[in-house]
Amino acid sequence: MKSVGRCRAHTNIALIKYWGKRNDELFLPMNSSLSLTLDAFYTDTQVILDESLVSDVFYLDDVKQGEKETEKITNFLNLFRNRANIETKACIKSYNHVPTAAGLASSASAFSALAGAMNQATNLNLDLETLSTFARQGSGSATRSIYGGFVEWDMGEADLSETSHAVQVDDASWDIGMIVIAVNTGKKKLSSRVGMKQTIATSPFYSSWVETATKDIKNIKKAIKSKDFVTLGEITESNGMKMHATMLGAMPPISYWEPDSVKAIQKVKEIRDTGLPCYVTMDAGPNVKVLCKKSDMTEIENRLLEDFDRKQIIPSHVGEGITLLSEDEWNY
Ligand code: ADP
Ligand code: DP6
Repeated sequence: MKSVGRCRAHTNIALIKYWGKRNDELFLPMNSSLSLTLDAFYTDTQVILDESLVSDVFYLDDVKQGEKETEKITNFLNLFRNRANIETKACIKSYNHVPTAAGLASSASAFSALAGAMNQATNLNLDLETLSTFARQGSGSATRSIYGGFVEWDMGEADLSETSHAVQVDDASWDIGMIVIAVNTGKKKLSSRVGMKQTIATSPFYSSWVETATKDIKNIKKAIKSKDFVTLGEITESNGMKMHATMLGAMPPISYWEPDSVKAIQKVKEIRDTGLPCYVTMDAGPNVKVLCKKSDMTEIENRLLEDFDRKQIIPSHVGEGITLLSEDEWNY
């Protein structure tokens, strides 16, 4: 017997960052975080539960993955299999419409899409909140990609897995957009997982980071509520920089920046100084994301094109939460 699930999930970019776990096994974060889901980048994933399979098989972009990558998937699928009380193995096919492991949040859309597809294939019918606690255990940032718009991942309490989940704060259906400046979409050398662990273990700034991120999240939620774009942007930019400052304090120091990252940041400041509100944030990779008003996107893109190539500038509107895909919508 076979059972199928297919799901699309969009990536999200954190405006208040998650950078560190208080519980590695359960992926429980040190602080709450808040993100914007993007429609330009997503992952489509199909799960076929098949009783004739003797082990899980995992294809990413049509390439059969090796033992290490497949083991990560197996561990994740076991969360669902244990809940459903089944042992059936699965064939997973996943397609990233986002560069993989480049700091553009492929792991966020990946594990959200896999969670959505597995929920359907197992007929578990978990609600979105519970599904976000499952997605979290594939990759922390995936917790937030279950939902669209502005999304908060509540850090939750103690070691209680079910209390650490995402919630939509606002659908962001106002004047909001984001432009990615792709500096380098190659695979990063240091994964987020290892980078954050190293930061907690060695950066003397880490406790201040947690303190400041906790304050930032309170203030950014107020800014979202009152649709105060300038305050939203200022907190976003400051929080991202503070995360990178905290990693620079690690031993050995961690930096994901490249010369063109600095060039992009300076360009955005230059554009801002001419009166167009726009703010940068960066993740575990050299690419720069620009939070701006949707109504200013074309003008900001044109200004960025003075210094960057067309193919480096990727505009995005606000994305929605996970959606199931029908057989007809599965175009692979
Ligand atoms: P990113 O910045 O892209 O999120 P990470 O290092 O956090 O980078 O995560 C990348 C990892 O996520 C990959 O090495 C792979 O293990 C996993 N991943 C990415 N895309 C998929 C996918 N579609 N399905 C399953 N796992 C994926
Ligand atoms: C800088 O979610 O990729 O993008 O939980 O170990 O899989 P794991 O890490 P991941 O880290 C994301 C880090 C970040 C900030 C963020 O998205 O909040």
